[in-house]
This record gives sequence, structure tokens and C-alpha cells, in this order.
Amino acid sequence: MAQQEPVTSNPVTSTVEDGVAIVRIANPPVNALSAAVRGGLVRAVEAADADSSVRAIVVTAEGRTFIAGADITEFGKPPVPPTLPDAIASVEATSKPVVAAINGAALGGGLEVALGCHARVATPSAKLGLPEVKLGILPGAGGTQRLPRLIGAVPALKLMTSGDPISAKEAQSLGILDEVAEDALAAAKALALRLAGGARPAAASAATNLGDRDAFEAAAGAMAKKGAENPSIAACIDAVRAAFDKPFDEGMAIERAHFIRLRDDPRSKALRHVFFAERAAARIPGLPKGTQPRPVARAAVIGGGTMGGGIAMSFANAGIPVTLIETSEENLQRGLERVAGNYATSVKRGSLTEEARGKRMGLIEGKVGLEAAAGADVVVEAVFEEMGLKKEIFGKLQGIAKPGAVLATNTSYLDVDEIAASTSRPGDVLGMHFFSPANVMKLLEVVRGRETAPDALATAVEVGRKLAKVPVVSGVCYGFIGNRMLARRTAQADRLLIEGAMPEEVDAALNAFGFRMGPFAMTDLAGLDIGWRIRQASGKKSPVADALVEAGRLGQKTKRGYYDYAGDGRTGVPDPEVRAVIERVSAEQGVTRRAIPPEEILERLLYPMINEGARILEEGIAARAGDIDTVWLNGYGWPAGTGGPMFHADSLGLPRIVARLRDFAQASGDESLRPAALLVRLAEEGGSFAALDEKAAA
Ligand code: CAA
Repeated sequence: MAQQEPVTSNPVTSTVEDGVAIVRIANPPVNALSAAVRGGLVRAVEAADADSSVRAIVVTAEGRTFIAGADITEFGKPPVPPTLPDAIASVEATSKPVVAAINGAALGGGLEVALGCHARVATPSAKLGLPEVKLGILPGAGGTQRLPRLIGAVPALKLMTSGDPISAKEAQSLGILDEVAEDALAAAKALALRLAGGARPAAASAATNLGDRDAFEAAAGAMAKKGAENPSIAACIDAVRAAFDKPFDEGMAIERAHFIRLRDDPRSKALRHVFFAERAAARIPGLPKGTQPRPVARAAVIGGGTMGGGIAMSFANAGIPVTLIETSEENLQRGLERVAGNYATSVKRGSLTEEARGKRMGLIEGKVGLEAAAGADVVVEAVFEEMGLKKEIFGKLQGIAKPGAVLATNTSYLDVDEIAASTSRPGDVLGMHFFSPANVMKLLEVVRGRETAPDALATAVEVGRKLAKVPVVSGVCYGFIGNRMLARRTAQADRLLIEGAMPEEVDAALNAFGFRMGPFAMTDLAGLDIGWRIRQASGKKSPVADALVEAGRLGQKTKRGYYDYAGDGRTGVPDPEVRAVIERVSAEQGVTRRAIPPEEILERLLYPMINEGARILEEGIAARAGDIDTVWLNGYGWPAGTGGPMFHADSLGLPRIVARLRDFAQASGDESLRPAALLVRLAEEGGSFAALDEKAAA
């Protein structure tokens, strides 16, 4: 085997093996297509094309991914040539065949590089996809032109509008891959040499497999309807349509124009923020260097209610055996039946195979009595929200749980330090706050107690990641990050009713902003009795909500709450009885009702939350503004296109928020609405939450 020295410098190197130039991209961690990679790729491919000892070229990458796409960090910066479309055009234009050896994820621009090659081979575990829509853009390096020509407009459009990656097997059946092989590099080399023996194969840009125009228009119509609020979907459709109507180069120009317009839109900026904020949230601040998570082979969940059952399902879904613990055989059976019912529904809906259902149920073992927690490496308590009960359980657990087991409480509000103090091993105790339904919702607040050991914290975050959650670390305070901010919004929503708004107006303002559900529709879904029970325990009042509960209006479950659900039981309509209750409360409080414009409703709901977010940052409860955004995006349905509350605050301009909060505090006499010191300081300094996070990261 003839082997030569590398001919190009980092991050793209090239060696010649048996007459094949192997061009290797090494740009850790995910081989994103930075300017240096694009330039290096062009130089390496052109040099190989010019080298008479080379008959064919293979492009591959080092590490666990092939290429994860464009370097997203470059998006806000001045462009550095060559552009990715130009780099890919150089690859496609070589006189010698180029084969992509896809050794891992080929996403976005990474798949587009592969499409610029003349053939593609991948390892069986590789994932291929065009996730650009998730970043508010569209494939911008020929994906919308080459892929439809190669595999057909309908499957190509599906891939780019879903944004979800597909397996190598699926990609092969679609015609994206020529081969799937364990040793993709060896297979790509062999294929490249075979191709070199004949004429250079056709480029994807010249392929003619677009398929039926009518079928495309039908699929595009359905997708446009489903994704009506997503400008990326419309752009993908327009660009793919150009593949039918225009020559390749004109199609490329249309794609480019959409790409630049969408990339520079605030929506894409927000979605990029979301991408990086979620990843930053995984970094735990202040952990001693070298802290390792404790091994977790088995879990236990105490409490087989809706929450406990959902948490047990999360473990089983991740392949971790779990014991579900109840106090009686009867409660246990009820809990297990609920879990079984949830899985059965998934099978019926087609989202779970019968085989997977059996496997998951097999990982959940039901037991009566706390002693069953003895074998677990992580124990999650999910019993009724009552301090006395939780302390009793943790007190007993200290003697039952094995040494080193992490003891987590799923409390939503209670003081984790007080719970920890009820054991002789407070270092093992922390909060793991799941969101309902726990087997579905992505957010996991990991609550770090005063005494929580660093490795216990690292374990909880690692477990969260294994459960496919988005873990965010919070300090101890009432309601942690999410519910503490939510309480501010709830207070304003209640107050708006008394001042003059109706539930449907408040909900509509948040719907228009992008929340799928407003606070009152949400309360109806969850049940008004939940908040009522919390208020009873804490001695707080909410006159409208209390009156509705007393009238037996508990929400959807009683077909009446803030709305009337007499129709299909799920669609609420405004109810004159509720209007009467609200007007009565206003009168009792001596309030002259007024019409409140939707913009004011929105400001009243969002700004106090942002203000509370600033306090949460000030107090160090959250380490980064991005963590707060991550909580709201993954746990409370904040619309991703605005980036989360703190990113949204930056976009609006902090001085405006400070001024409005001062107005609200003045008008209501409610001192909690006064802007937080941090918010005022940032507004005065011309600072932003994003800049604060950047400073903290540095
Ligand atoms: N650009 C810049 N940085 C990136 C990146 C990208 N495209 N993709 C990942 N990274 C960074 C992450 O921010 C993270 O950095 P930190 O360690 O500093 O937090 C690091 O790489 C590792 O990423 P993950 O934590 O996500 O690693 P993972 O193993 O869980 O997942 C992955 C790997 C599946 C490739 C995942 O990173 C991913 O989905 N990346 C983004 C893919 C994407 O959206 N590509 C499209 C880009 S846009 C494009 O290509 C437009 C075009 O058409 C020209």
C-alpha cells in the first residue's frame, strides 16, 4: 500500500492510499464546516484532482460524527469565503469520482457535502438529516436542489420539513446512500476505485428523479397547512418547487436568497440561542474539576401516582430497570395499570412497537414497602406534596437505600434543604423535578441543595440526559426556576380578570404570542383543585378561582372550569356564569372594570416573569439566563421562535421592560412589580442577559 505524508494542514488532511486520496476532516467536537474546513476541503479535493497518482477521492471525517453541518457560531459574523455552496460545487466538479465515507451523523451542510460527492457510503449507525428548519432556516448549500433531483421531491421535502434524522438503512432505501457498511471507509475506497474504472458518475445536481409534479404539489399543500406558522417550511417548498421549474443554478440562487433572509431573521437568531442555551445548561457551574457521576444501574420511584408512574416510564424508556414502590397492593396495582394503559395507548397510536412495549413493561417492577428501594442507585420520591410525609420517607430511606445512592425528591415547591436535613446523608439528597406528563415532558429541574455532594449533582444531571430530558440545575427556593416565575404570571392573570379582562382574552393574548395554551385553559386541563389545595395549605386566596372551585367548577374533569366543556369535553367556550363570578369579584373589590388591550395583557403577563427571572439570576438560583430560557422552552411551552423569556427581554430592550414594570408597580401599588436591581442595572448600562451569560462563560 502506497502511503504519502499529509498534503494539507489542519483541519483537513489528505493521504493517498492505493491511488485513492482520503480527505479527512478533523474539526472537533462535531466537524462543523467552519471557514477553515471549507477552505481546507476545497484545497484538498482540488489538489487530489490535480495529482496524477490519484484515481479517485474519498471524503470522510474523524471522530464520532461525519459533519454536523454549517458552523452555527459563524452565522452572525461576516462571511469568509469559500461559501459552503461554492465549496460543494468544487467537490462536485472534480474530474475524478468523489465518494463520501459517512462515519457518523451527516446533518445539514454535512449531508449537503455528501450530496456534492458522486456516491455515498455510511456505517449502519450513521444518522442523516436536514435539521435546518429547527434552526429557523432551510438547507442552504444545495440540499433543496440536489436531494429532490436525487431521490424525488416528495421524500426530499419530507426530510427537510421534519428536520428529523433518518437511519442509514432508511437513507439507503430512499436512494441517498449507495452502500451501508461497517467499515464505511474501506467500502468507500473500493467503490471509488470501481467508479474510477468507468466514466465519472452523474452528479446529484444533474439527476432527474424529481418524480411526479402533482404528487409534490399535494404533499407540499398538506405540509404548508400543517406548518403554516413556520416560514422555513414555506421556503423549503418554494425552493423544491424551483427544482421542477428552473435549471439547477437558478434553483440554487432561490435557495440562497431564502437562506440569507431566514438566517438574518430574529426567529432564527432565537432558535440558535435555544440550541446553544440547551447545551450550555448541561454544564454544571462550580463543580470541582474531575467530578464523576456515580454509576446508575437501577432506579426506584416512590409513589405510583400519575407523576411517579410517568417517572418510572422515563427510566424504563431509557432501558434502566426501575422499582415502582407503593404503600399498598391496591395502590400499586392501580399505578401499574396506569403505566400499562399509557404504553397500550402508544402501541395503539403506532408510536411504540409491541416488542418495545413488552421490553419496557419488563423493566418496571412493582413492590409494596420502602424496603424495595434498597437495590437502587437513584431513588426518586414522588409522593403527595406534603413536607411531613416527605421527611418521614427520607428519614426511613437513610437506613434503606444503599450507600452512595442518590436520593431525589420530585417536589415542585418544597424546601429541598429541609428534606435533606431529615436524613443523616444530606450530601446524597437533591431535587429531580419532573414535569407532567413525566414520560413526555423534556424538562428536568435538578435542585441543588446546600449540602448536595458534587458527584450526586453530576449523577442527577447525567441520569436526566440518559432519560432524554433536558436537565437544568436550580438552587433551592420556593417553586425553583419555572414555578417561581409562573407564580408571577398567574398572579397577573388573576388580577387582569378582576381589572376587566375575561379568561378568553387573557388566553388569546398568550396564544397570539405563540403559547399553545393560555393560563386559564391550562388550569382547566390540570384541574382547579390543584391550586386550591396549595392555597388551602398556605392560607393564600384567589377570589375568582376559589369561587369557581366552590361552585364545583374544577376544569375539564367536571366539564366546567374557567370555560364550559359541555360540547366535546375538551373544547372550552366562554361561560356567562364565569363572567358573572368575575364581575361579582370586581364589584366586591370596588374595582371599576375597564377594557384592557391585548398588548397590555401580554406585557402584564410576561414582564413580571422576566423580572422574577432577573431576581432568580441575581440570587444565583439559576447560573445563566439561558438556563431560565431552557426551563421555559422545555417545561412550559414558551414559543421557541422568541428564544425564551430572557432572550425575549433582550430583544424587546431592557429599558422598555424596566419602564413598564415601574408603570405597573405605580398603578397597582404592588411592590413585587418593581424592577429587580439586576434588570435596572443592565438597562442602565446598555447591557443584556446574553452579554451577562457570555461574561459568565468566559
Ligand atoms: N455548529 C457549531 N457548533 C456545533 C454544531 C454546529 N453545527 N453542532 C454541534 N455543535 C457544538 C455544540 O454546541 C456542543 O458544544 P459544547 O460542547 O461547547 O456545548 C458540541 O458541538 C457537541 O454538541 P452536542 O452536545 O449536541 O453533541 P451530541 O453528541 O449530543 O450531538 C449532534 C451531536 C447530533 C451533531 C448535535 O450536535 C447536532 O444536532 N448538531 C447540530 C446539527 C445541525 O443543526 N446542523 C445544521 C446546521 S445549519 C446548516 O448546516 C445550514 C446549511 O445548510 C449550510
